[in-house]
Amino acid sequence: SGCGAVEGERTLAMIKPDGLSGNYTENIKADILGSGFRIIKEIQVQLDAERASLFYAEHSGRSFFDSLIKYITSGPVLAMVLEKPDAIAQWRALIGPTDARKAKTSHPNSIRAMCGLDSEKNCVHGSDSLESAAREISFFFGDADSETVEHDEL
Ligand code: TYD
Ligand code: MG
Repeated sequence: SGCGAVEGERTLAMIKPDGLSGNYTENIKADILGSGFRIIKEIQVQLDAERASLFYAEHSGRSFFDSLIKYITSGPVLAMVLEKPDAIAQWRALIGPTDARKAKTSHPNSIRAMCGLDSEKNCVHGSDSLESAAREISFFFGDADSETVEHDEL
């Protein structure tokens, strides 16, 4: 992918429990739409520990894993499919660095600076590659929705 005339790439955005409970959803959506993304789909779900561990499987075994699973299952999350050219990188840029404390100084206009707390409670998620975007979109919305992401590679 990346070599054709791609009119829209898709990424998975997720507002984490503290983002929802802190009533940041409208501000975050305003940033999303103001930055030219389309919100293609959204679903609010309560993850259990098993589903959360599957979503964050790449981090299993890390020191922060158990705490991360507790945090991400502490309340509902809002998953969204965002579409825009270069959506994966553009959404990562808009949310800012993983550690929200660093975001507040180095990326003060980022979403994590606005609503995150630290390197765990950082308010939002963004896919980090085409592969993870396809996997994470399927995780929440099923395989049909990843077709557009895959189309350029056929
Ligand atoms: P990671 O994929 O490294 O960050 P990002 O969300 O920016 O892609 O880590 C996934 C999540 O794991 C991160 O959003 C919060 C949590 N985490 C911690 O709790 N402590 C840490 O030291 C790191 C690196 C991540
Ligand atoms: Mg990541």
